[in-house]
Amino acid sequence: MAAAEKQPVTGAGPLNGLLTWVDARFPLIKMWEEQWGKYVAPKNFNFWYYFGSLSAFVLVLQILTGIFLTMNYKPDAAHAFASVEYIMRDVWGGWIIRYMHSTGASAFFICIYLHMFRGLLYGSYRKPRELLWIFGMLIYLCLMAEAFFGYLLPWGQMSYWGAQVIVNLFGAVPFIGEDLSIWIRGDYVVSDATLNRFFAFHVIAIPLVLLGLVAAHLAALHEVGSNNPDGVEIKKQPKDPQTGLPLDGIYSHPYYTVKDALGVVVFLIVFSVIMFFLPEMGGYFLEYNNFIPADPLNTPQHIAPVWYFTPFYSILRAIPPLFNSQFPGVLAMGASTMILFLMPWLDRSPVKSVRYKGPVFKTALALFVIVFLLLGYLGTEPTNVWGQFGAWLGNADRATVVARICTAIYFLFFILMPWYSKIDQCKPEPARLTW
Ligand code: HEM
Repeated sequence: MAAAEKQPVTGAGPLNGLLTWVDARFPLIKMWEEQWGKYVAPKNFNFWYYFGSLSAFVLVLQILTGIFLTMNYKPDAAHAFASVEYIMRDVWGGWIIRYMHSTGASAFFICIYLHMFRGLLYGSYRKPRELLWIFGMLIYLCLMAEAFFGYLLPWGQMSYWGAQVIVNLFGAVPFIGEDLSIWIRGDYVVSDATLNRFFAFHVIAIPLVLLGLVAAHLAALHEVGSNNPDGVEIKKQPKDPQTGLPLDGIYSHPYYTVKDALGVVVFLIVFSVIMFFLPEMGGYFLEYNNFIPADPLNTPQHIAPVWYFTPFYSILRAIPPLFNSQFPGVLAMGASTMILFLMPWLDRSPVKSVRYKGPVFKTALALFVIVFLLLGYLGTEPTNVWGQFGAWLGNADRATVVARICTAIYFLFFILMPWYSKIDQCKPEPARLTW
């Protein structure tokens, strides 16, 4: 629209003149209305719909706190650990910035896991949202890389040995493995060179990709429109003659602006309680071994990744080596994340939302959640945490056997889905939203 045709911004407020001036030269109001203000969303968003905006909030929080940490952190193997201690003890406000960032990392994964689970509940990955889901999965992979690279930076024992274990896994790839892991580390062991490149990836490369992917994720969302707890497509509904909106649609602003703001307030209360009173969260958010400086000559007794990686780490440990090679475990661990990409094509159910799906799908989803949590727990513990079976079962570690059963159920949830989602007794989807 040409500048002269644009309407002046009306309503109370001292900045209207400035807004009108800017809007005549830049599509400010158009962008706001397209992306949020006039974005029509279903009326029945519930608890599970808080976590998209919360993930975006935590992303901004991580970037802002990250910038301030970078001002005093030193990506140098000789100084990294001490520079983090310096931030915690001597830099004004440093401790709070660091705890915000470390608590924020776990909070990010909590929000993302709940956000993804919502997708599974309501079939938000189904047509026409396949690409939206794929962008989401790419974000998830980037987020795991971001957390992995970031974890080396404090240069504590867990940072060092965690990175050592994970990079060594690449060594299990046939033929090129050894060269590949040296290429990733930039050295024969995790060293200053590794720290430098992980720092570069953590502070600039991955955040840039993440921001681009989030923009693509939101663009795809706004193209196809939001799903909802009933899985009903509101775009297919007749338009309300008075408002011109689909019968069950409302504008995001002010309705979901207020809802999301409430989410942020509650989130900040919980976040503050954790940050001020439980920043280590019993060793789950900040592992105790990481308060000891990295020592390449002293391997900790028990090396475990941070909680958000442990379900996959459990799968890695559950698969026995083949001809002394860990490659099958590495493959299974990779496949356990990659298989989620296929969700839009594995689910053949005639309905989207779990509300109308049949008992088989509901049971399968419940089992999946249980084994995911169990694998997560087992991954934080040594494999002998539950002792061993007797000689009649080959003295196998009980926890390893349970992890193997869980791994089998984990994969069967996906592999059998095309079959059980099709034969399940679903209820018919309603024409209008129910709330
Ligand atoms: C930085 C990470 C992410 C941010 C900031 C983000 C942001 C958002 C936002 C703001 C929404 C709309 C509000 C809502 O539905 O809650 C949304 C929807 C959605 N996101 Fe994400 N997201 C992220 C990661 C992911 C991941 C990892 C996945 C899955 C693999 C995913 C899958 C989806 C899906 C399927 C929808 C549509 C849900 C529906 O309409 O029912 N997102 N996302």
